[in-house]
Amino acid sequence: KVNNNATRRCIQQCRSNETSDRPENGLSNGHYVARSGSIPADTVNLKRRVGLLSGVALIVGTMIGSGIFVSPSELLKQTDSVAVSLIIWALAGGLAMLGALAYAELGTMNTSSGAEYAYFMDAFGSLPAFLFSWVSTLVLKPSQLAIIILTFAQYTCGAFMVGEAPTLAVKLVATATIMLLLFINCYSVNLATGVQNVFTAAKLVAIAIVCVGGLYKFIEGNPATSDMGFGNAKQNYGKIATAFYSGLWAYDGWNNLNYATEEIKNPDKNLPRSIMLGIPLVTVCYVFINIAYLFVMTPDEMIASEAVAVTFGQRVLGSYAWIIPLSVAISTFGAANGTVFAAGRLGFATSREGHFSDILSYIHVRRFTPIPALVFHAVIAIAMVIPGNIDSLINFFSFTAWIFYGGAMAALLWQRHTKPNFPRPYRVPTIAPILVLIISIYLVIAPIVENPELEYLYASLFIAAGLVFYIPFVHYQKSIGLMEPITIFLQKWFEVAPTEVMEE
Ligand code: ARG
Repeated sequence: KVNNNATRRCIQQCRSNETSDRPENGLSNGHYVARSGSIPADTVNLKRRVGLLSGVALIVGTMIGSGIFVSPSELLKQTDSVAVSLIIWALAGGLAMLGALAYAELGTMNTSSGAEYAYFMDAFGSLPAFLFSWVSTLVLKPSQLAIIILTFAQYTCGAFMVGEAPTLAVKLVATATIMLLLFINCYSVNLATGVQNVFTAAKLVAIAIVCVGGLYKFIEGNPATSDMGFGNAKQNYGKIATAFYSGLWAYDGWNNLNYATEEIKNPDKNLPRSIMLGIPLVTVCYVFINIAYLFVMTPDEMIASEAVAVTFGQRVLGSYAWIIPLSVAISTFGAANGTVFAAGRLGFATSREGHFSDILSYIHVRRFTPIPALVFHAVIAIAMVIPGNIDSLINFFSFTAWIFYGGAMAALLWQRHTKPNFPRPYRVPTIAPILVLIISIYLVIAPIVENPELEYLYASLFIAAGLVFYIPFVHYQKSIGLMEPITIFLQKWFEVAPTEVMEE
């Protein structure tokens, strides 16, 4: 571990420049993080700056992104029945809720940041935890960001151009937006959570506008869809799984707060509370917004529409139809901000354990933000945006993500067995992780069986490639000679320091 004099000097110098904002010894360690008993005075640590409101916003504001404005047609197309599609919307919300409640147990039992990484580390040890972070930091998190940001850029460019926006413009806007988000998140935790809160509030207002518009059509007496029944529901269960997947993307992000547990004030209470408030709120919004769309468009019109929300706006809002693309832009910007926030904490938590290069675990000595991990995340996301084809990214994403959600359920159940008496400030009914585990196995296997695509093979090969990296660099702790000077250089450049003094 690098714990050199340059680090100490850097901290001392920077500290002497400021007096009021001294770091608190606020890091409450989970089980495995406690490598140094008490936290020495010359280290910097993340601060607990996320309260209940910001906690809810980090969940709700990340979940509500692009999905709800575009996926409803897809669900309707797959199921061919209004009632079935509404049921799937509600069930996907239920699944997110059960999964998140299980994460509430995991996150209050182990209060280290990094979510799945921390839980795998505790339950299964170093290798599975490493492989999770390997896939997640290199592919999953950046591809989530790329998808959301590309949607943002499409809507923003669309607002200023007639017809289809040129790809180059979309990609440039996407790249610039990632840099803006990077700046916000590096600047301060308060700025990042402030942006998250404002954008979450704004997107909830936008959803309320859509719901009121639908209600108005209903009260007027001629809703477009009067029969919300089962219609000619297709008896094809494979299609239902695909429909479920489209819904699940809209709900993804339910675990977002678990990445930053070390920064939550009073996490034992605020983590479960944020989950219990946030996820039902999103579910209610999603079901209502779907009903509102249906009051304005027939199911066939919805299926034919490229972006349901936009068609809705043109029909209901008249000369105010621009509100909708603006809402999508606000919604996706907020979701992207929440994604960047979480991804920074994942890289930070992983490298603090020596699983990635040390520099990624350092935080800014005055801003207390994990700048190197954030920069790393943004660079990969930009690299994905440039060649980006959104559809293949989504396919790749859902498959690997559910392996890990299922893995976290297994970690919970396994720890119930291996550590029955370990304090669990929140205990989820056992049926929840069991159900989510079964569903996630189905969600991983079904698409491969139904429609074996090369992407699944690539994904598996990529996970396996993690091993090639793990054996020399993590297991045998081989270091590349060049890393030390690079680390020192970046450390001075970013003004970052390790979060705790580590034993040699
Ligand atoms: N649910 C969001 C959307 O509809 C996507 C969230 C991506 N996942 C994440 N963990 N950031 O756009």
